[in-house]
Amino acid sequence: MKADVLLGLQWGDEGKGKIVDVLTPKYGVIARFQGGPNAGHTIIFDGKKHVLHTIPSGIFRDDILNVVGNGVVVDPVIFKKEIEGLLESGVSPFDSLVISRKAHLIMPTHGLLDAASEMAKGKLKIGSTLKGIGPAYMDKTGRNGLRIGDIESAHFLERYALLRDKHVHMLVQFKDYKYDLSKAESDWLEAIEYLKKFKFIDSEHILNKELKEGRGILAEGAQGTMLDIDFGTYPFVTSSNTITAGACTGLGIPPNKIGEVFGIFKAYCTRVGSGPFPTELLEETGEKLRAAGFEFGATTGRPRRCGWLDLPQLKYAVMVNGVTQLCMMKADVLGEFDEIEVCTHYMHKGEKIDYLPYDIRPDEVQPIYKTIECWPGDLTRLRDVADIPASLNAYIKMIEDETGVPISILSVGPDREQTLILKSDLRNDT
Ligand code: GDP
Ligand code: IMO
Ligand code: MG
Repeated sequence: MKADVLLGLQWGDEGKGKIVDVLTPKYGVIARFQGGPNAGHTIIFDGKKHVLHTIPSGIFRDDILNVVGNGVVVDPVIFKKEIEGLLESGVSPFDSLVISRKAHLIMPTHGLLDAASEMAKGKLKIGSTLKGIGPAYMDKTGRNGLRIGDIESAHFLERYALLRDKHVHMLVQFKDYKYDLSKAESDWLEAIEYLKKFKFIDSEHILNKELKEGRGILAEGAQGTMLDIDFGTYPFVTSSNTITAGACTGLGIPPNKIGEVFGIFKAYCTRVGSGPFPTELLEETGEKLRAAGFEFGATTGRPRRCGWLDLPQLKYAVMVNGVTQLCMMKADVLGEFDEIEVCTHYMHKGEKIDYLPYDIRPDEVQPIYKTIECWPGDLTRLRDVADIPASLNAYIKMIEDETGVPISILSVGPDREQTLILKSDLRNDT
């Protein structure tokens, strides 16, 4: 048995949470492999909206093991809040959610360092979610970090204090940054105690055993390919590998045990935070997309920047991830338009190119568009593949031809039910 991977192909918020939830009944295990509470994965069913940050999106289905993998960074305070939210919704996650001992902890001082560093950057700030992600991964690669497994050690508090003091010392350089650590620290220590209600596991052993025994695993990514630390629009990226390879290092699953790779993308593009975005629409059309798609961040509530679909970017993401199946989201939002644009090429140093070059800042690349006839009207009630408008089928075919990968899921609304499975073996009844 192989593990499948599901991840974002653009700048995050593609709709990963929704599709993980849709596909979960096909699997026994859902495992988050990187990122932390910078993620916000929205799942809507039975008229209720749920937003998950650290917890895998399989949590609402019965008989599923949800694993927070070693590649994830966990903020105990946010984790506790998420659990309390689930309990309020009638979901008890105590038996179905486990955490890797090798996952790293986000400390309150990581959040402070994130905020101070962004403040010091001024106009050049990344636009971080300020959840302490960058500083926590810095401590991981700098070999200073605290891990979930350390909570079980008798020396945990001692080690915590040592690293906290190091951070406090680092914060001295940000002279204008004022903070008060005491309340955040007591909340954090209380949340550490709460975390002990969950099973800490050696997840790489469990996951490989599950594969051997034939229980399907779906690895859930966070963020998106253009936010990948290596392949994204560096330095305007997050601090982990969001691509398929990240599922191997973030879970301990060997590369030759990866099966299908589901690439999630919106029928247009969005980005939240700073950094290059070649097809961004800065005028009314962008605002129209934002309003129609309700493009506001699930974690920070910030308005998302909006733009047209970018094929060189999408093809790049398909390439670095080895995507085998595409899932196109938010096709209903484009129903607001008679015509849309799609970027097919860039002008780069006087040359027309169809790939993503090293630098995609506006002074380096200018998008070249083709106009596409749209599918005006309300798609949100569409349930039958036979009723897909011809112009939408043509859009699907164009993307399949350009990427060389089939679109197997079409999403026409935020609800679990507003999903068309175009590939029969993905249907839950097959
Ligand atoms: P994720 O981070 O990739 O899981 O995505 P987010 O949850 O941050 O953002 C996706 C947003 O789009 C959420 O508000 C979803 O409820 C919503 N959504 C997902 N699929 C669709 C769709 O097909 N149509 C519409 N209109 N909204 C969708
Ligand atoms: P999901 O999983 C969209 C963006 C931030 C910022 C940059 C770095 O919901 O798709 P960080 O907090 O990691 O230091 O921020 O990355 N970012 C996201 N954008 N969706 C996300 O997650 C994101 N996680 C981080 O806005 O530009
Ligand atoms: Mg999101």
